[in-house]
Amino acid sequence: MKKLVSTLLALALVFCGLPAFAAEAPSLTVAVASDLHYNLPEETLTRFTDDPLYGHANRRAAMENESGFIIDAFLADCAEKQVDYVLISGDLADNGRSTPEEHFAVRDKLLAFEKETGIEVFVIDGNHDLGSGAKTDIADFKEIYKDLGYDHALSARSEDCSYTADLGEKYRLIALDSCDPTVSTEDGMSPAKVRWAVKEAKAAYQDGRFPLLMMHHNLLDHLPLQRIFSHDFIVRSHLATAALFADTGIRVVFTGHEHCSDAAVYTAPSGNVIRDFATTSLTMYPLAYRVMRFTDEEISYSEEYISSIDTAALSRAVRGYTPEILSAMEADLTAFSKQYLKKGVEYRLSLSLTMEKSGIEAGSPFYPLVDAAFSSLRSLLAMPLYGEGSAAEIAAAYGIELPLTPFVTGWDLATELVSAHYAGSEHYDITGPEVTALLRLASLILKYVPDGVSDALFTGAAGAIVNALTLREAKALCRSVFGGVTPGEVFAAALVSGLVYGFANDADGLDDNNGIFEGCGKTDRAYALSQKLIAVFNKILQLVKNFFAVIGKRIGIYRSMR
Ligand SMILES: [Fe+2]
Ligand SMILES: [Fe+2]
Repeated sequence: MKKLVSTLLALALVFCGLPAFAAEAPSLTVAVASDLHYNLPEETLTRFTDDPLYGHANRRAAMENESGFIIDAFLADCAEKQVDYVLISGDLADNGRSTPEEHFAVRDKLLAFEKETGIEVFVIDGNHDLGSGAKTDIADFKEIYKDLGYDHALSARSEDCSYTADLGEKYRLIALDSCDPTVSTEDGMSPAKVRWAVKEAKAAYQDGRFPLLMMHHNLLDHLPLQRIFSHDFIVRSHLATAALFADTGIRVVFTGHEHCSDAAVYTAPSGNVIRDFATTSLTMYPLAYRVMRFTDEEISYSEEYISSIDTAALSRAVRGYTPEILSAMEADLTAFSKQYLKKGVEYRLSLSLTMEKSGIEAGSPFYPLVDAAFSSLRSLLAMPLYGEGSAAEIAAAYGIELPLTPFVTGWDLATELVSAHYAGSEHYDITGPEVTALLRLASLILKYVPDGVSDALFTGAAGAIVNALTLREAKALCRSVFGGVTPGEVFAAALVSGLVYGFANDADGLDDNNGIFEGCGKTDRAYALSQKLIAVFNKILQLVKNFFAVIGKRIGIYRSMR
């Protein structure tokens, strides 16, 4: 009996172990990081609010002083995972245009990593990296990063930073410069750049390689209607470009810029499929990068998180980190980075809800009106959501019931949605308590904020307008103040529309962070078939042309004989 059990156990072990032995080794594994936004560390930590743990959360909500240490941890992870290559899709330095020293520091880290591990790094520029007439321009960028991609370039565009390079035996990277060096954020895609990428993708296939595209700006929507709401972050004519790329056999695109972890899929009218993997900023919550594993049969991807940084070195480099901040980072870096992001977003939004940012001068008749609206809005977002003196109490007075959620304030609830967008795989139930509470809070803001403005202020402002202005000017001013353009209304409308269009629930069937789909080898058959059909069509077209040419000649001869 014992023998039978041990034999069965041995067999079970063998069979359990079999898939691991039988599994095909990946033919390519790459780590993809984006938007490193490296900052030179401050000498002493600047604090923006009096929050004891997150007072240094800046308006970009980026972990700037920590950035170098996060990059170090990322590279250590890549070395440990023994990836084949590291790809970085732009915004390497935060102030790269004006401060080349930031680029030098990033470059040195990447070069040291290459030297130590033998793993090659490939970079492309983002909008923060260079500018025409800036301290770092296109030529400077290529010179600084000459050993980080350009040294392996098979072809390169002289007008920008684009280049191609082989990855392993089967793949070719097309690193496309999507930036416009004369503007700061929006894309600089041009027909020439698109044509070049298409040409390079075709060349890759001719050389027996699958093309992989990397660029800074997004190709597909990673926000609901991104081309409308966040148009600077996605390439122009994005769907036409995506269709063209898909029909050229590009299956995978790596992008950044939007600072979100999101995977989007698009099927061209021809049936060809392309997927855009937007990778979140490495130095913002959730401090993540992607690992993508390619075989002919399938491509799998996973989100990897930086779980610790060298806090001792950080506190040596920058004065002002308290033991409490350092131990909060050490206890749970992801949780720390999330609170840091939420506090940074809150700080940024609260800054925009001030009279200085409103552009309304102190002597303006609107000043007291808008001032009162802002202070109502700020207090509503900052007060406790539940309990005595809470937003829930005020909501109840308007007949609105705020469902119970774990969130403490309106800010806490609103910034939760923002952090979910950055982290990806956001699957809030549209009818769940969080989304319902947020929608109801937004509707409460729209009701409560105008109520916070007294009649005296309204009539006072109206009287001042009538006295001081012509009718036309008055109309223009009224539109600017009452016509749905106060930051409170914009904020609420942005939240509501975002939610309605799926901001909180990514349900496109392609998980943002972890998944698997068909490999280039599989989809290549469809591509090859379409190419064959095109070739057959071209042959028929040529035959028809020849036929008419012959007929034309005959007619010409016949006419000349007459
Ligand atoms: Fe960025
Ligand atoms: Fe960017």
